[in-house]
Amino acid sequence: MLKVGFVGWRGMVGSVLMHRMREANDFAGIEPIFFTTSQVGQPGPDVGVEVPPLKDAFDIEALKALDVVVTCQGGDYTEKVYQPLRESGWKGYWLDAASTLRMSDDATIVLDPVNRHVIDAQLARGTRTFVGGNCTVSLMLMGLGGLFEADLIEWMTSMTYQAASGSGAKHMRELLNQMGSLRDAVATELADPASAILDIDRKVSAAMRGDGFPIDNFGAPLAGGLLPWIDKPMENGQSKEEWKGGVETNKILGHGDNPIPIDGLCVRIGAMRSHSQAFTIKLKKDVPIDEIEDRIARHNDWVKVIPNDKEATLRELTPAAVTGTMNVPVGRLRKLAMGGEYLTAFSVGDQLLWGAAEPLKRMLAILRE
Ligand code: HSE
Repeated sequence: MLKVGFVGWRGMVGSVLMHRMREANDFAGIEPIFFTTSQVGQPGPDVGVEVPPLKDAFDIEALKALDVVVTCQGGDYTEKVYQPLRESGWKGYWLDAASTLRMSDDATIVLDPVNRHVIDAQLARGTRTFVGGNCTVSLMLMGLGGLFEADLIEWMTSMTYQAASGSGAKHMRELLNQMGSLRDAVATELADPASAILDIDRKVSAAMRGDGFPIDNFGAPLAGGLLPWIDKPMENGQSKEEWKGGVETNKILGHGDNPIPIDGLCVRIGAMRSHSQAFTIKLKKDVPIDEIEDRIARHNDWVKVIPNDKEATLRELTPAAVTGTMNVPVGRLRKLAMGGEYLTAFSVGDQLLWGAAEPLKRMLAILRE
């Protein structure tokens, strides 16, 4: 049985991973060992099988005894522990949710419904470092995998509408506090149907710009608005989140020296944990829309084509409909006014499931095959 060490299992992505693994009875076929950065010696979590007390996540000797490390602890942990562990001679598998190692030549980005062939080839070559992709990238590929598989895409833009969870748990709380503050600022006026909407709007704007508005985490008001910048700046004017869209997609697909140009703007919106994206896709040829729908729908078990009408769109293509599910709906599919080779589409996906925990859960299952 594989000895699998879990680090960062209590955080947001880690908790979703634990939940999914319990649901699928994944702990039954492994020897799970839980690590901690703060509570060494305390009892491990209840995962349906017996587990030893918590071990120190910085103890290289304890990590060396493992066949697999699964970490959702974040980039700082990876930076501190990965290199020393490898330098100690450890040859186990490192499965990581953080972005630190993603673009390293030794690491493979995992999204097996899309790149199982790349994963298998890397395993055969002896690769032992596997990293989950950026959430928007993984969700985009789960949605549009059928078009990439058929090599129909010449270039693409992805304009994102990203949820608060992508920034972390504190940000989700801050978003809700911002929403509450705005509502509280006009509670009296809202209760009075005769009050003037422009007065309400003025008060809401004043609250949003006021000193007491909670912006410590986002740095600006998100509730009632949006934030058109995610992550650090790159030198060329892209944000790092936008840069990831191109480089990670091409790495996942194994495109090497022949990348597909992918770029766009990444925007934070007031959704809780589902990311949405609007695509403009330049096709290599004018493919009929029914063939496009068919290729998208047949690619994997989780993608679903939503008819391009208002009722179906509002019912099935929103964060409210998708959050907490594995579904990746793709809709608003139509040719753009620019011509038959120009396709638009819109997709939504749970940022913590296919966007983070699920690819790692599935990679662990691949290692057990
Ligand atoms: N970077 C993403 C975001 C989350 O900020 O929404 C993780 O991939």
